[in-house]
Amino acid sequence: MQTEKIGFIGTGAISDAMVRGLLAEPAAVARVTISPRNAEIAQRLAADFAEVSVAADNQGVIDASDVVVLAVRPQIAKEVLGGLTFRKGQSVLSVIAATDRKTLLEWIGTDVHLVQAIPLPFVADREGVTAVFPPDSRIAALFSVMGTAVECETKEEYDLLAAASSLMSTALGIMDISAAWLEERGLTKGKGRAYIAPLFANLTQTALRSKTVPLEELSSEFATKGGLNEQVLSDFEKNGGRDALILALDRVLARIQGAKA
Ligand SMILES: NC(=O)c1ccc[n+]([C@@H]2O[C@H](COP(=O)([O-])OP(=O)(O)OC[C@H]3O[C@@H](n4cnc5c(N)ncnc54)[C@H](OP(=O)(O)O)[C@@H]3O)[C@@H](O)[C@H]2O)c1
Repeated sequence: MQTEKIGFIGTGAISDAMVRGLLAEPAAVARVTISPRNAEIAQRLAADFAEVSVAADNQGVIDASDVVVLAVRPQIAKEVLGGLTFRKGQSVLSVIAATDRKTLLEWIGTDVHLVQAIPLPFVADREGVTAVFPPDSRIAALFSVMGTAVECETKEEYDLLAAASSLMSTALGIMDISAAWLEERGLTKGKGRAYIAPLFANLTQTALRSKTVPLEELSSEFATKGGLNEQVLSDFEKNGGRDALILALDRVLARIQGAKA
């Protein structure tokens, strides 16, 4: 066990997912200290896991932990961090979105060992892919327990993966639009989703299994010349689908890169 004692400042949705992922059997850490807010989530975690204790306040989390996870919303991070004292060289993992390294270090006010990451809710089931920056074996080991860690060599790489992580709602939205279209055109209610969700899961599995085959090649493998798949892809591109997606990614990347806090 590389990390014995981990603590969370901000016990919300993502901390809940991380704690559950870390403490699933076999547990990846020995002790977890969480901040008292949100009270309901904190109480539930403490009830579900013997390894979890709720600190009296945020400083109590820092004092009890080797690795401190910062998981409050960006809007209140400055105010929360300003009142706290970290140990020099202490491992701090920030999952706070859209807040760059320099700003975080200023707010922390001590020369800590800072790493940033973008965990996704799937870490709760140990199935999340997590971007980590800069590369750090200790933090990567934690996220490898909760799925896969992708260590980024540069801030540019990290920002690109942050942009990619913004595709979740759109991916589910494509499934939603397709399932709704099927049902509006007469498919029995519920069957649209029952068909679309496994179809997308099969395609994802294909992409995961065929690691060395370029995605473009996989896409054309499903597009028989003159066939139905080729027609839909061609209509999608002709009607601006590809351009809309690239524009959306460009815009979210610009927002991420411009973000100071
Ligand atoms: N959710 C995700 O999938 C995800 C993924 C990656 C990164 N993130 C980032 O992780 C951070 C947390 O996101 P979240 O979704 O977990 O948000 P959230 O559910 O709103 O959790 C934030 C928590 O911070 C608590 N809090 C408020 N004031 C506090 C204080 N002074 N000291 C300590 N805790 C305080 C809140 O408690 P109360 O409820 O009592 O106000 C709440 O439980 C954000 O910066 C977000 O960008 C989230």
